[in-house]
Amino acid sequence: MNVIEIKNLLKIYKSPFMRRESIGVNNLVLEVYKGEIFGLLGPNGAGKTTTLKIITGLLKPTSGKVTLFGGVSPKEARERIGFLPENPVFYQHLTGMELLKFYGSLYGKSHRREELLKRLQSVGLKESIDKRLSGYSKGMVQRIGIAQALIGDPDLLVLDEPLSGLDPIGRKEMKDLIQEVNKEGKTVLFSSHILSDVEAICNRVGIIIEGRMKKTGYLSEILKSDIHYTDIEIEGIKEIEWLKRYGGIKREERIVYLRTRDEKKRDEVIKEVIGRGGRIISCVPYRESLEEHFMKTVNE
Ligand SMILES: Nc1ncnc2c1ncn2[C@@H]1O[C@H](COP(=O)(O)OP(=O)(O)OP(=O)(O)O)[C@@H](O)[C@H]1O
Ligand SMILES: [Mg+2]
Repeated sequence: MNVIEIKNLLKIYKSPFMRRESIGVNNLVLEVYKGEIFGLLGPNGAGKTTTLKIITGLLKPTSGKVTLFGGVSPKEARERIGFLPENPVFYQHLTGMELLKFYGSLYGKSHRREELLKRLQSVGLKESIDKRLSGYSKGMVQRIGIAQALIGDPDLLVLDEPLSGLDPIGRKEMKDLIQEVNKEGKTVLFSSHILSDVEAICNRVGIIIEGRMKKTGYLSEILKSDIHYTDIEIEGIKEIEWLKRYGGIKREERIVYLRTRDEKKRDEVIKEVIGRGGRIISCVPYRESLEEHFMKTVNE
C-alpha cells in the first residue's frame, strides 16, 4: 500500500477578481511508498509547496485524485500527518515548551513534561525550552517546527524545505533526525533546493518542473543511468597503442591513465590488460551528481 497516491492533480489559483489565473500544478503524478524518504525537487515556483499543501489538506485541488494511506477519510489522514510549512509562523509570546504543549493538545493529547522535553532535546532545543519564540533565530524556529510536526506521532511527515535557514551543523542534525524518525517507521516526504542534502538522505526523488513531475525514481537508478566516464590506472604494460581503442590515454612514467565512456569497453579493457600481464591499479567511475542531473532535466 502506498502512503500517498496522486493522479492527474491540477491546481489553478484564481485571483480574488477572477481576472488572472496561475497554475500551481498541472497533471501531476506522485507515489510515495510506505517507509521511504522521498525528496521533492524543483526550481522556484515549480509547484512543490502547492503539492505538499494539497496532501496535508490545507489546499483544495481544482481536480485530480489524492489517496492517502490507501484511502482513509480526510479527517483520519490529517491525524496521521505531521507538517512543517515552508515559512512557519508560530505564536511569538509562547515559549518552546508551551508551543509544543499547545500543538500536542491539538491532537487531543496531553503530553507529560518529560515527553515534551525529550522531543525538544531531539531537535536540539533543550537549552531554549523556556525562551519565548520572539527570541528564536530562524534556525531555532525551524527546529521547533519539526518538533511540532512530530508531536502527534504521525505516520507521515511532510516537510516543506526543512533544511532552509539552518547552518551546516543544523543541517546535519536535521538530516540525522529525519533519518532517525524514518527508522522508527515514519514515511517522510520533503522538498528541498539543497540537492546534496536530498542526495544524502532520500531513497527516491521526484523532480517537479512547471507543475509537472518530470522524473521520479530511486536515486541509485537515476544516477547510475548516467555514468559519465571511468578512469582506469594501468601498470605493467609496455606497448600502449592498442589501448586507444578503448578511450583516451595518457602516460606518466610507468603508469598509463585511460578514460573510457563505455561500460562494456571498460570491462573489456580490464580483461585485456590482465591478459597481457598488466595490472589494474584503480578503476573509478565518475557519476553525474544529482545537481548535474537536475540541471539537465530543468534545461530539457
Ligand atoms: N496563493 C497563490 N496565488 C496565486 N498563485 C500562486 C499561489 N501560490 C502559488 N502560486 C503559483 O503557483 C506556482 C507554484 O508555486 P509553489 O509555491 O507551489 O512553488 P514551489 O515549488 O514551492 O516554489 P519555491 O521553491 O519558491 O517555494 C507558482 O507559479 C506560483 O506563482
Ligand atoms: Mg515552496
